[in-house]
Parts: sequence; structure tokens; C-alpha cells
Amino acid sequence: MTRNAPRTAGKPAREKLIDPYLRPITYLRLSVTDRCDFRCTYCMAEEMTFLPKRDLLTLEELDRMASAFIGLGVSKLRITGGEPLVRRGILGFFQAMKRHLDSGALRELTLTTNGSQLARFAEGLHAAGMRRVNVSLDTLRPDKFAGITRRGRLEQVLEGIDAALKAGLRVKLNTVAIKGFNEDELFEITAFCAEKGLDLTFIEVMPMGDMDDALRIGQFWPLTELRARLAERYRLTPLAEQSGGPARYVRLEETGQKIGFIQPLSHNFCESCNRVRMTCTGELYTCLGQNGMSDLKAPLRAHPNDDAPLREAIRAAIALKPRGHDFDYSRQKVRGQVKRHMSHTGG
Ligand code: GTP
Ligand code: 5AD
Ligand code: SF4
Repeated sequence: MTRNAPRTAGKPAREKLIDPYLRPITYLRLSVTDRCDFRCTYCMAEEMTFLPKRDLLTLEELDRMASAFIGLGVSKLRITGGEPLVRRGILGFFQAMKRHLDSGALRELTLTTNGSQLARFAEGLHAAGMRRVNVSLDTLRPDKFAGITRRGRLEQVLEGIDAALKAGLRVKLNTVAIKGFNEDELFEITAFCAEKGLDLTFIEVMPMGDMDDALRIGQFWPLTELRARLAERYRLTPLAEQSGGPARYVRLEETGQKIGFIQPLSHNFCESCNRVRMTCTGELYTCLGQNGMSDLKAPLRAHPNDDAPLREAIRAAIALKPRGHDFDYSRQKVRGQVKRHMSHTGG
């Protein structure tokens, strides 16, 4: 350390975040709202009680929080929700984050969205430096879409995707593989992505929220099976490249498209975990599959003009990051279930 470097309580600000298992933490998923305009059956209850506004971090506080993590070496920032684009004023937050892209501190500023508001926001997001968005979409059939989202309109999402592409954003679809729901659409969804030039990632359904064991196990479609089905029609070449998330990719030789697999159940990826999640109220969850969390809103609000206590609280939270999740469906039992809904931590 140089003699005059700013030295605050504890470690210097520039020392990076490393967890107890020696994993560098470089990826923050920041939820900006618990609200959503859909109610996907595997993600939320039909009747949700949303948080009062005063509990949410303000946009200025979200900025301070994100900037503190970026100062500690986080180089990938993904905004999540609920549905992040229903948060009022959110475009201003993205515009403010652009300074971290411009400075080179942030490598990627991105978003996971249900797509419903993309038509309105796509151009603004691109102008704020975003280059890629992930859109959650589990079916291409309007009636099934209305059913699984309980209130969504497929057409609106498809328009959002088109607007994103037109604005110059790369789009990746996230499709949760659900037995008995979208098994029959595997090739349709794949062809749709090839035609539109979208990347596609399949996700194994995780035991989050309050769902009966038998129902959850009934939904589980292992991606090992899905992949074998794809291999009946396409030649799959595994790719070494990664997007900084847990997906592993293949290329379909016949179409040239890229397909990802997120397999928390059938192929655990915790050993290379690089991420933490913040809720819209400032709780830091260090693992999607565990209940441990640290409140960072308190140190943030207690010291409005000094980030040193916040940085210390971040380090202390990372020091508690567990080795991984305990999700398991073997022997027809759900183990390692987490009661909170996926929407609480933004997936
Ligand atoms: P890319 O940047 O495109 O790689 O995206 P990503 O996979 O990092 O983010 P995205 O929001 O698209 O994540 C897709 C889904 O993968 C999440 O909603 C979760 O369901 C799952 N997922 C992401 N990270 C983790 C993780 O750390 N653990 C587990 N168990 N699941 C995860
Ligand atoms: N298991 C796997 N993925 C889920 N998602 C929501 N709930 C679950 C679950 N139980 C996904 C959504 C979206 C992302 C935010 O999380 O489809 O892509
Ligand atoms: Fe990381 Fe936890 Fe996800 Fe494993 S389950 S990859 S440790 S967040």
C-alpha cells in the first residue's frame, strides 16, 4: 500500500472480496424491487403482499450500495427483481451506473427481466451502456404463458424482445425446464431462438418457496435428459466460454446457436461460485440455496457520508458465505428446500 492511500477502518478499499472457500466475489445480483407484473407459479404466490415503499432502498442508496461493491472488485452487476423495470425511475439508476462502465471498473451491466416492459426501455438501456439482457420465458404458447404467469400476455413479451434486438441488445432466453409443461416445446423454443438470433439457457427447477414435495419433484426435468433429447436432433459441441454465470454452453452445429444449461441439481456448480445477491431492502444473501443473510441497510443508513463501515459490513458478510446449496430431489424427497420465494432474491 502506498503511504497516502486512503485507509479506513479494517482493510484498504481496494482489497478484493474473497470468500472462505477462496472464491473471488466479482458478481453482484442486485434486486431493485420485490414487485412484479406477473405471478409465475413457480416463483411467487398468487396473493403476494409486497413491501411498503419505506423499506426499499432508494435509488440513491442502491447507487451507493452498488458502487461500494464495485469499489471492492465487483465487475459484473445484474439488476433483478421482482421485475426490475417496474421500479419507478430505474432508468436513472442505469444511467448513473454507466460511469462505472466508462471508468472500466464494471465489465458488464445487465438485467434479468420478464420482458413485459422492454419495448419501453430497450433504447434507454442500450444508451446506458447495457449490451445484453436475459429474458425469462418458459413457453411460446399464449394460453400456457397466461397460465404459468397467472396474468402475463405473451405478445407483450415478444414485442419486448423484438424491441431489445432492434435497440442492439443481445438477448438470452431463460427457460425453466418443467416436466409436463414445456417438454413438448423443446424443439420449438430452440428453433425460435435460432430464427431470432437469441441465446437460450435452460434452468433446472429449484425447490424455492412453499410447494408440496410431490408437486416439485413432478416438475423436475433433469437437464441431462433434456440435453440427450437435443442430441437426438443436433450435434452438440461443448464450449469452453463462460458468461460469468453458472451456465455451461454448447453450440448446435446445424444452426450455430448457443445453448446454456444451468444444472444446480444434476451438476452442482457451487465450487466456482462468484456471486452474491442483494434484496431490495439491503439484505445480502451469500447463497441462493441457503438462508444466511446480512443486513447492509443499517450500516449504509447509519453512515450517510462514510462508506468505510459499509465496506466492512460487506467483508464480514462475505466471510460467512457457505460452500453451496443443499438442493436434492433424490429418493422422491425434496431436501435443502428454501422457503423464501425466488422473487425475494431475484433468482
Ligand atoms: P449470464 O450472465 O447470462 O450467465 O446469466 P446468469 O445465469 O448469471 O443470470 P440469470 O439471471 O440469467 O440466471 C438464471 C438463473 O440461474 C437464475 O435465475 C437462477 O435460477 C439460476 N442461478 C443463477 N445463479 C445461481 C446460483 O448461484 N445458484 C443457483 N443455484 N442458481 C443460480
Ligand atoms: N427454479 C429455477 N428457476 C427459477 N426461476 C424462478 N423460480 C425458479 C425456480 N424455482 C427463474 C426465472 C427467471 C429467474 C429470475 O429465475 O424463470 O429466469
Ligand atoms: Fe453460489 Fe449458492 Fe448458487 Fe451454489 S447455490 S452457486 S453457492 S449462490
